[in-house]
Amino acid sequence: MDYTFAEREQSRLLDELTDFLSIPSISTLPEHASDCRRSAEWLVAHLQGLGCPVATLIETEGHPIVWAESPRVIGAPTLLIYGHYDVQPVDPLDEWISPPFTPTVRGNSLFARGAVDDKGQVYCLLKAYEASLDGDRRPPLNINFIIEGEEEHGGEGIETLLEREPERTKADAVLVADSGYFAPGWPAVCTGLRGLCYAEIHLQTLERDLHSGGYGGVAPNAVETLVRLLSRLKRESGWIRIPKLYTALEEPSKSERKSWKRLPFDEESFLRDEVTGQALTGIKEYSVLERIWALPTLEIHGISGGFTGVGAKTVIPAHASAKVSLRLVPGLTYKKVGRWLARAVEKLTPSWAAVEVRLLHGTNPVQLDTSAPVFDVLSEAFEAVVGRPTVSIRSGGSIPVIPSLGAEGAPVVLTGISLPDDGLHSPNEKIDLQQLWDGIEVFGRFFELFAASGGNAGPDLDPEG
Ligand code: BES
Ligand code: MN
Ligand code: MN
Repeated sequence: MDYTFAEREQSRLLDELTDFLSIPSISTLPEHASDCRRSAEWLVAHLQGLGCPVATLIETEGHPIVWAESPRVIGAPTLLIYGHYDVQPVDPLDEWISPPFTPTVRGNSLFARGAVDDKGQVYCLLKAYEASLDGDRRPPLNINFIIEGEEEHGGEGIETLLEREPERTKADAVLVADSGYFAPGWPAVCTGLRGLCYAEIHLQTLERDLHSGGYGGVAPNAVETLVRLLSRLKRESGWIRIPKLYTALEEPSKSERKSWKRLPFDEESFLRDEVTGQALTGIKEYSVLERIWALPTLEIHGISGGFTGVGAKTVIPAHASAKVSLRLVPGLTYKKVGRWLARAVEKLTPSWAAVEVRLLHGTNPVQLDTSAPVFDVLSEAFEAVVGRPTVSIRSGGSIPVIPSLGAEGAPVVLTGISLPDDGLHSPNEKIDLQQLWDGIEVFGRFFELFAASGGNAGPDLDPEG
């Protein structure tokens, strides 16, 4: 590959990435559907420009999927690259120093929604591919790209596609750059992701809102009822009051726990620089990393109901609702947990209130086997560029499609170039530009080394196939 590519081309690359990040591809908001499509079309044009003979949109019921194939090299190994071009909503908008879709460089970072989750990382892989082409010296490797636009709200379309056409995931390895370093200077590979069970709780206590003077003291208030209910779903000590959660989960192995203890983790700077609060919460008997990687959570994302406008309105609300989710660890499936949640909520609802629990979406936790030789190849690529091999971590987040990507037996390599303080999903999301330049070289080297290794077929892949 061309090792000087990123450094030489920096200003062009910044312009291209700025262009890509300027498209507000927020997948959960219907009014941005055309922006999602524009983002997908941008990728198709870009992949065509890089010489992919196949680069097309695959239509789904939601946002289109981008599929591309590099020029075929007979007998060479195949690498499937997955990423997502959709991004999270941007609110609270007034907390952004520069507008979320006006990518802006400050210091050595580029600030924009999607800078690192995941458009910036998708872009990094495209440029690694470009760098690897290096005239006619490109490595003997077949790369397929699958880049979806619905990851941030559950990834339905890609599941349907892969169910119908599972052969798309036939590969010697799958590379996903949608995670990141454990700490600056510490590249990582992910051995597990938590699952997610996302629900809405709707509660009604009256047929209509009432005057709080005329009826206050006797009429049941829906917001109050909901808040009491929610507060009883979790103890202050952090334990979620769905006891089966803890009897069903599988604890991490001794050796995994031991390896986590060796990671460079400083609770104080984690609290100060990343969490930005005054204290950490949760079950004190478990370490912070265990709480994020190996325990379930119950989070209230938002509550609505009653009067929240300007000024005062004296009203007893009849309706209230809340969005909540549980993160899931091995041993817990979203279907099972969804039922347990509904039952727990119903039990906590007083007889004079009506409650409904609607499950919005779910994804199961994943564990990734990182014993295939391709993981050594990745580690070698990182070591060559940043001077340190990869460490094994888990992530508390979720990527719904991961199990389907590995369904044909290819090892799934989940890694990435984000830094802990990049602010995924937060205002002022950024990508550290040095991480981007390094990442281009890392993945370029990875392509080269992987090609040279002949692919190292995963355990379930037919070596003749
Ligand atoms: N890239 C993240 C998941 C992630 C975060 C992996 C940090 C590794 C480290 C992904 O884009 C994401 O945000 N997923 C959602 C999925 C959900 C909406 C189904 C999540 O985890 O909330
Ligand atoms: Mn992501
Ligand atoms: Mn995300």
